Amino acid sequence: MSEAPSIVILTGAGISKESGLDTFRDSDGIWAKVRIEDVATPEAFARNPSRVQEFYNARRAGLKDPKVVPNAAHEALARLEREWPGEVLLVTQNIDDLHERAGSKNLIHMHGELLKVRCEYCDALMRWEEPLSTSTPCPHCGRKSGMRPHVVWFGEMPIGMDAIYEKLDTCGLFVSIGTSGNVYPAAGFVQHVRYRGLAHSVELNLEPSQGATLFAEVILGPATEIVPAFVDRILTDGVPTAV
Ligand code: APR
Repeated sequence: MSEAPSIVILTGAGISKESGLDTFRDSDGIWAKVRIEDVATPEAFARNPSRVQEFYNARRAGLKDPKVVPNAAHEALARLEREWPGEVLLVTQNIDDLHERAGSKNLIHMHGELLKVRCEYCDALMRWEEPLSTSTPCPHCGRKSGMRPHVVWFGEMPIGMDAIYEKLDTCGLFVSIGTSGNVYPAAGFVQHVRYRGLAHSVELNLEPSQGATLFAEVILGPATEIVPAFVDRILTDGVPTAV
């Protein structure tokens, strides 16, 4: 039997919505309550670091809420990684840790991780679950005011891009789940895959994303319903050939 094709999966905030975490651009989303320019740019951090730290402290505390747990969609993707005979790479735009907690291992957080912080002076990167303030000393170099969330802000370079494009260039299936397709480079992954013409592409989302027409297949519905069913289909029928 020919080697099983590799699969690249991109996820966005929509996959964590049913776990109780807000998305960004839904009407009740994060950017309806706070401005990107005030909390998610390097300029915002330079201008008012406390405001930025408070924003991420609140989200870090929210993620530690015992009610926030992986949902059936996160669990289905972890099962696909375990049971699919080929490689499955999960690229997430999300900074929550729900994919890890569901058991996914081959995972790239291209926008960083809410439960990690780094020191801008010595580049130390560490797991961090407590509030962070501008006076928190770096445990490694001792200096203060350099500790920041390990989160990619607008205008900064996403993480793992070389590895991601390498896998997009060779995958047989690209799946996008729970993302509005508003933010590049993630929103451009489907064009990158279609350009090669060698992979099937599927969008699973509550509603059509900005890039829906670029996908060979679009499946609409809540992630906790459509993702487990899709994973069952792939494990049973295999990956459709690119159209
Ligand atoms: N099931 C599936 N999809 C859902 C669900 C659900 N239960 N609820 C919402 N969605 C969909 C919405 O329809 C929307 O298309 O999830 C998508 C969420 O889109 P955004 O809020 O824009 O989130 P995302 O695409 O992840 O944002 C990308 O933008 O602000 C930056 O860095 C931030 O990583 C984020 C990036």
